[in-house]
Amino acid sequence: MPPIVLVLNGPNLNLLGTREPATYGHETLADISALCGRTAEELGLAVEFRQTNQESELIDWIHGARGRCAGIVINPAAWTHTSVAIRDALVASEVPVIEVHLSNVHARETFRHHSFVSSIAIGVMCGFGSHGYRLALEHFSQRLKG
Ligand code: DQA
Repeated sequence: MPPIVLVLNGPNLNLLGTREPATYGHETLADISALCGRTAEELGLAVEFRQTNQESELIDWIHGARGRCAGIVINPAAWTHTSVAIRDALVASEVPVIEVHLSNVHARETFRHHSFVSSIAIGVMCGFGSHGYRLALEHFSQRLKG
């Protein structure tokens, strides 16, 4: 059974493709899911790819990763900048976390410069578009090989 990496996406990311394309590009969430699926196959990982607009649902998925998943790749979207609850859930899961953002949040509004997740993540990918998800999966693959 290949190691499972949970790829989680927060609010409004279901609108990718039509949502502010100048900032987030033209790829849809289905495109990113397909990219993660192909990458996982190449690397010998099993990916579970999910998106929600409900914070409690995201927290339940994080709880479900404990003792089951080898890694979490998370784009918490707007909750990055607001949610202590998501940070606490990630810490409680005891699963290594990589934070991903499509855009370079540090080159945007100042309210996007602070993340509740970054300081508990093993790394952050931001500004590389969907490639950031691939880079995160590659890192987990390397890390799992020791
Ligand atoms: C985002 C950046 C966040 O600031 C924003 O709220 C999002 C998307 C990104 O992927 O660039 O919804 O996480």
